[in-house]
Amino acid sequence: MAREQISKIAYKTLQQGKSIAGLAHKELSTRLMNLILPDNNFGNFNIDKNLLINIQNSMDSLREEDWNDAEKNIYPKKLLFDEPWLRYLTQYPKIWLDMPNTWDRRRKQNYKDLPKNIDSENYPKYYLRNFHHQTDGYLSDFSASIYDLQVEILFNGSADSMRRRIIKPLKEGLNNFKNMPKSSLKILDVATGSGRTLKQLRGAFAKEKIIGLDLSGSYLKEASRYISNLEGDLIELIKGNAEELPFEDNSLQGISCVYLFHELPRTVREKVLKEFFRVLEPGGILVLADSIQVNDSPDFIEIMENFHKSFHEPFYSDYIKDDINAKIEETGFNNIKSKSFFMTKVWSAIK
Ligand SMILES: C[S@@+](CC[C@H](N)C(=O)[O-])C[C@H]1O[C@@H](n2cnc3c(N)ncnc32)[C@H](O)[C@@H]1O
Repeated sequence: MAREQISKIAYKTLQQGKSIAGLAHKELSTRLMNLILPDNNFGNFNIDKNLLINIQNSMDSLREEDWNDAEKNIYPKKLLFDEPWLRYLTQYPKIWLDMPNTWDRRRKQNYKDLPKNIDSENYPKYYLRNFHHQTDGYLSDFSASIYDLQVEILFNGSADSMRRRIIKPLKEGLNNFKNMPKSSLKILDVATGSGRTLKQLRGAFAKEKIIGLDLSGSYLKEASRYISNLEGDLIELIKGNAEELPFEDNSLQGISCVYLFHELPRTVREKVLKEFFRVLEPGGILVLADSIQVNDSPDFIEIMENFHKSFHEPFYSDYIKDDINAKIEETGFNNIKSKSFFMTKVWSAIK
C-alpha cells in the first residue's frame, strides 16, 4: 500500500515537473522573441487566474484518470514513467537553434517553406505546408527529430497521458473479438507520427498485430528508431495516405488516429472516416483523439482561439466547430461515445 502511494506521488511529481518545465520554456522563448523581434505583431496571450485554475484542475483530472487506468491494469504502470530523457537532451538544443527560423516564417506568413527535394505530386495539397511553422513541415528528418519534444512542450508535458486515453476504449472494443486469438487481431494507428502512440499501444497490447501508417517517410524513420527496442512482435510501419488506406475491406479489428483531424480540411475528414469504416471488420472499433472542441470545452475557448492564431493551423478553426459525432454516425458507425481530457477529446465508435 505504502509502495503504491509512493509510486503515485512519484508519478504526479514527474508530471508536475514536466508541466513546470513546459511552462518555463514557453515563458522564456516568448521573452526572447519579444527581445529579438520587438516589432513582432504576434500578440501576447495572457492567461488570467481563472483560466490557470481551470488548466490546473483539468491536468489534475487527466493525471488521476491516467493513474487509475494503470491501477486497473488497462496498461502497465511502467508506461507512466517511460520518458526518453536522452532523446529530449539531444532534441532540446535543436529546438532553440531552430526557433528564429520559425519566428521568421511566422512573421512573413510563409507557409510554403518546404525542402526543395520533395516530390510534391506525392502529397495532397493541404499537407504541403509548414503546420505550426514547423521547419520543413512534416517533410524532413530534422522536423521528425524534434517533433515529439515540441508536442510535449505544447501540452506542458502531458501529451502521452492524453494519447493513452485511446487505450481503454480500444481494449473495450476489441472485446468484440474475444473468441479470436489476440495475435490475429490487427490494430492500425493512422497518422502515427514519430512513434509515441505506437509505444503506448505496444505497452497495452502485447500480442496484437500493430501497424503504424503515416504520409511522412521521415516521421516513420524516426518512429522506427524509437520503437525498435520494444518488447513484443515487430510493429509494421507503412508509408501511406489516410484517404486511401492500403488495406482490404473488413480486414482490421481496431483503428486509432491521434491528432490528425484538426490538420485536415472538412471534406477530407469525411473521406478519411469513410476509409476507416471500409477497412474495419464489422464489430471493429475506431478510436479518434484530437483537440478539444468549442461546444464541450467552453472554458478553453481562449486557448483554442490562440492556438490557431499563433500556430499555422489553417483547418483548426473549422475543426473545433465540426460535429464529429454526427459525421461518425453518418459514416455508419454505432455506439458513438466521446469524452474530453484536458486538451484532448476522444471519440470511440463501433462498425
Ligand atoms: C500532429 S501529427 C500527429 C502524430 C501522432 N499521431 C502523435 O500523436 O503525435 C500529424 C501526423 O499526421 C500525418 N498526416 C497528415 N495528413 C496525413 C494523411 N492524409 N495520411 C497519413 N498521415 C497524415 C503527418 O505526417 C503527421 O505525422
